[in-house]
Amino acid sequence: MSADRAEIAELPRSDEALRDGIGEEDNPIPSWWWWTFFGTVVFALVYIPYYTRSGWTQEKQYAEQVAQTRALIQATAPAIPTTNPFRGNAAAIADGQQTFTTICAACHKPDASGLIGPSLIDPYWKYGHADAELFLTVTKGRPGGMPAWESQLGSEKIWKALAYLETLPKSQQSGLGAPDYVPPAGSTPVAVPPVAPAPGS
Ligand code: HEC
Repeated sequence: MSADRAEIAELPRSDEALRDGIGEEDNPIPSWWWWTFFGTVVFALVYIPYYTRSGWTQEKQYAEQVAQTRALIQATAPAIPTTNPFRGNAAAIADGQQTFTTICAACHKPDASGLIGPSLIDPYWKYGHADAELFLTVTKGRPGGMPAWESQLGSEKIWKALAYLETLPKSQQSGLGAPDYVPPAGSTPVAVPPVAPAPGS
């Protein structure tokens, strides 16, 4: 703006500046606007001390919500049983037999004495024979060619198949049905009741 021309705001009111046909008015600011403005000032005077002193932070709230959700998930997720819930349940074992003969038998033989997969009735367990270990083997699979069955069968069918497997007559012969079967390195024979492990097996 050059020095010889005053700014519009400095022009005397008599000037009645018209720009593109729009006149300059000097109406008072409406009171609702003032009330809103002072309202926000008052709100700030209350809110800022409240906010800064309450100790509330976004991070804290987030951490609390995460903790709450974790607790909720833990409380509602079905805990994986550590012992077979169908042990000795005749109806479940019959169900399990069906799963075993249609799926597992292809690799482990119907009597579970081993074919492509190792014998499941011998005293050798590469991955352990506790309920939880067996369950893990079948749900997640094992690297030596044992597929994971979790998504196809679900945990109930797997537990039932394992309950059935348990009822099969045991054998002391490692890898019965797979004569060239060598007990996996690092595996330890487990006493299979009622017969004690044969010497040298
Ligand atoms: C495609 C063939 C195949 C099918 C089907 C199969 N398995 Fe296996 N399974 C294997 C192989 C191979 C291994 C050896 C894995 C290894 O040594 O890492 C194995 C290992 C296992 C083991 C671990 C044995 C040990 O010594 O620790 C168990 C238990 C087992 N299978 C149970 C089952 C059950 C129950 C089913 C049916 C739901 C099943 N398998 C279906 C091939 C199969």
